[in-house]
Amino acid sequence: MNQTSLNRLLASNKLDNPEKANLKELFDLRLSTNLAIIQNLFLSLYPESTLQNLFPVLLELLPELFKKRSKNLKIQDLRKLKHANWYQSEKMVGMQLYVDNFNKDLNGLETKIAYLERLGVNLLHIMPVTTRPKGENDGGYAVNSYTQVAKKYGSKADLLNLTKKLRSKKMYLMMDFVVNHTSDEFPWAKKAMAGDKKYQDYYYTYPDRNMPDEFEHSLPEVFPQTSPGNFTFNTKMKRWVMTVFNDYQWDLNYTNPMVFMDMLSNMVELANLGVDIIRFDALAFLWKKLGTNSQNLPEAHSLITLFRMCLQVVAPGVVLLAEAIVSPKEIIKYFGEGIKKGNECEIAYNATLMALLWNSIATKKTHLLYKNLINLPSKPSEGTWINYIRCHDDIGLGFDDRYIYEVGWGAAAHRKFLLDYYCQKLDWSPAKGQVFMYNPKNGDGRITGSTASLLGLEKGLEQNNQELIKLAVNKILMLHAIILSYGGIPMIYAGDEIGTLNDYSYLKNKDIKEDSRWANRPKQDWKIVSGLDKIDTPQAQIYHSLKKLIRIRRNTPVFADKNNLLLHHSANPHIFMFERTNNSDKDVLVICNFDESIHVIEGANIVSKGYETGGKLQDLVSGESITLKSAFLEINPFQILWLSKS
Ligand code: GLC
Repeated sequence: MNQTSLNRLLASNKLDNPEKANLKELFDLRLSTNLAIIQNLFLSLYPESTLQNLFPVLLELLPELFKKRSKNLKIQDLRKLKHANWYQSEKMVGMQLYVDNFNKDLNGLETKIAYLERLGVNLLHIMPVTTRPKGENDGGYAVNSYTQVAKKYGSKADLLNLTKKLRSKKMYLMMDFVVNHTSDEFPWAKKAMAGDKKYQDYYYTYPDRNMPDEFEHSLPEVFPQTSPGNFTFNTKMKRWVMTVFNDYQWDLNYTNPMVFMDMLSNMVELANLGVDIIRFDALAFLWKKLGTNSQNLPEAHSLITLFRMCLQVVAPGVVLLAEAIVSPKEIIKYFGEGIKKGNECEIAYNATLMALLWNSIATKKTHLLYKNLINLPSKPSEGTWINYIRCHDDIGLGFDDRYIYEVGWGAAAHRKFLLDYYCQKLDWSPAKGQVFMYNPKNGDGRITGSTASLLGLEKGLEQNNQELIKLAVNKILMLHAIILSYGGIPMIYAGDEIGTLNDYSYLKNKDIKEDSRWANRPKQDWKIVSGLDKIDTPQAQIYHSLKKLIRIRRNTPVFADKNNLLLHHSANPHIFMFERTNNSDKDVLVICNFDESIHVIEGANIVSKGYETGGKLQDLVSGESITLKSAFLEINPFQILWLSKS
């Protein structure tokens, strides 16, 4: 039983009537329930013997933070605590968007809520809207503040308005908490530059190259092309500062407990705007240690759990998403292990599924996908995934080498093939992606581009090649149907619902032209949207079919994530097959074909799983029943079936 369940159980008799509950009493109850873990984690990171004992300061801070939360949100927290697994529901369907690219600003976004509702979306992930440096700012991930809205998006009042509107529509909001670094214009960085020792200790700053050189022995490079190395010399401060991402993003020094406490306050302030899911950005990097790659360290996990346990006391309705785009066996740890099990992040990006879906499209085979997924330890029952195909970032190929070898390929050669396939090195490939951050030192590279362009729609339209267009549309729909049915929150990337192609305009902007991730950050094309009901275009086909798939997902309770995923091995290497099962007649068997030819699987295979009645199978996707004509079930190229028992 994790702390959420415990908190719910202890407060259960008060949760039926949150309006009448004594909110402070329930806060005290949560604090006493989580206190031992909080103390244990805090003291493990900041032992009393080596530092001034700041634990009492944390104990004073928590009630202060609670006081700052509005009564409305406190009541909503209790409602959410009662339905503590709200984020695992089949009703959850997300969309990630850039506010300015979507429709100008926060007010503009508000006018498009009806569009999102029509599609069936009930969760928005809005990309950073807070103040940031002019010029280069990593798409807002270099923060000048955690809650001040940058003018171009509107005002804080507009944001509060939006969150209120979303709540009234029973929609959820996710926002980023850039927890690993601030910009070099953040008030703390400015004070550090002005010579304030206290704030120099908020970052990793050094007078000479000794420590930086030591660190560099084992630190990898995140942006080797545009920001090589992990330290930057700041001429004002006359010190080296750790900058793992870009040179204007300064890494926060969490070995300093004051940094933790101030960042906790910033996080709660963000939550108090009415955010339901906090996306913990780049959290794998939170703790740095000489001689290590400073990623996924045990101390980072303790720190994240400490944030979580405190947030739960102050705002139990808010949950955390781990943005850890790391190897499969590391990602799973962000749900928590040991005492942290189910107490770290409730949600994590399923980067494993995402990267391997792209692998399966390129290879037309699913054995590597299956091997990786079947070997993942299961997540805690309170945890869930964000399942996605594309997002604002690149596609990294960080899955395990071991399994690549096991299916008979060489790891380096295979990754090179994937880069070549997606990044226009192979004439026959339909993909139009771009290489991101190729590192000649180790041959690593990542891939950028929109879903539609990577899956061949751009090439198909350019060549007016109807066959290519049809295949691209089917691939787009199949991948979306997988994330809608796999178990977790499907997160659609804005524009993908209308097959948006790469946007090459970034090449003309000096601040971002080196960052090809902007190819997959296009403006929403409202002209296409206005034609969706009138003309039969590939975009309209994608939109209407996706809308239908979303509707089916939201009406199929077995799609709620109850850790009820059963992967099935398929003897046919082109087929991917899994079942969502509560051992009832409402189960669903998902079957898809990653190849350009028709493939078959044995009918007996399906019959034995209980998916046949009177020689017929029921497919939720087409709404039709399929007659098993021979001993085999045929699956068309890039077709997906959602077979239902009833
Ligand atoms: C996350 C964001 C990415 C950003 C990085 C540094 O990975 O998704 O866009 O560049 O953090 O903040």
